[in-house]
Amino acid sequence: MKAIILAGGNGSRLYPLTQVSSKQLQAVFDKPMIYYPITVLIAAGIREICLISTPQDLPRFQQLLGDGRRWGINLEYREQARPEGIAQAFLIAEDFINGDSVVLMLGDNIFSGSDDFPRAICQLQRGATIFAYHVSDPERYGVVEFDRHGRALSLEEKPENPKSGFAVPGIYIYDAQVVEIARALKPSQRGELEITEVNLEYMRRNQLRVHRLSRGFAWLDAGTSTALQEASAYIEAIERRQGIKIGCPEEAALVRRFISIEQFEALLSTMPNCEYRSYLATVAAEARRLGG
Ligand code: DAU
Repeated sequence: MKAIILAGGNGSRLYPLTQVSSKQLQAVFDKPMIYYPITVLIAAGIREICLISTPQDLPRFQQLLGDGRRWGINLEYREQARPEGIAQAFLIAEDFINGDSVVLMLGDNIFSGSDDFPRAICQLQRGATIFAYHVSDPERYGVVEFDRHGRALSLEEKPENPKSGFAVPGIYIYDAQVVEIARALKPSQRGELEITEVNLEYMRRNQLRVHRLSRGFAWLDAGTSTALQEASAYIEAIERRQGIKIGCPEEAALVRRFISIEQFEALLSTMPNCEYRSYLATVAAEARRLGG
């Protein structure tokens, strides 16, 4: 299983924040936004990740994240010249996918709170899995209606009259058919290759499964200034209360054994003295106590 993180777009809804820095590099409380999806993917056991962004922003991501080796992963980069739709990611990264199954994550979606993803990712054999999350404003999202067996009954992009209260978050799991499906798409009225059209095609093929995310789970999107502020406040509240951090790729890599405790400690020694490093030092001490 491979993964793509889509971190492009023009970030117009976050103007003026996004004039000189990409949306997905903005801070969500104490880390860059992009750390959160990367951490989810590492926690799910995925080592091959391709990040797609704009020609202007890509060098910043490369500067921040490098080739991923320090976290025991392999990070590749691809450009999206213009924001021509989420589903274009499969065409841009076709050579990276190379006939494998793939997770697509949107770089401005933040998830926290359970191990639902790793299980759903491991379970995929054929077809596609999307997630369903109850929200108060489904009309802002892709909306899915499903039965008690997790079969999708309907799927609509930003409907005026949603058929259910369940939005589709920006994480999708596909088998290798996805490239051929994306290739057959036509741009929508807003000129984009729509991810909902990909999911509808899997639904027509009777191969779309819907995994309902549980109540205690948090899905936040950080696409507007208000949503960004709310996401920061949420992360801060959980981190302060629990004395843990959400969205630390180093910690996820250690837990997944992508890196050893020795590599983890060596990584720490390269960081400046700061709260982030102090936290990771407590993680290292605990790992040592438990025997590495
Ligand atoms: O957040 C989940 C929602 O994401 C889903 O429920 C919808 O079905 C899906 O269409 C999408 O809706 P949005 O309106 O939030 O999509 P948006 O155009 O804002 O793009 C989401 C992210 O993907 C954003 O961070 C920018 C990035 N993006 C988007 C497009 C269209 C790209 O990098 N390239 C693109 O071409």
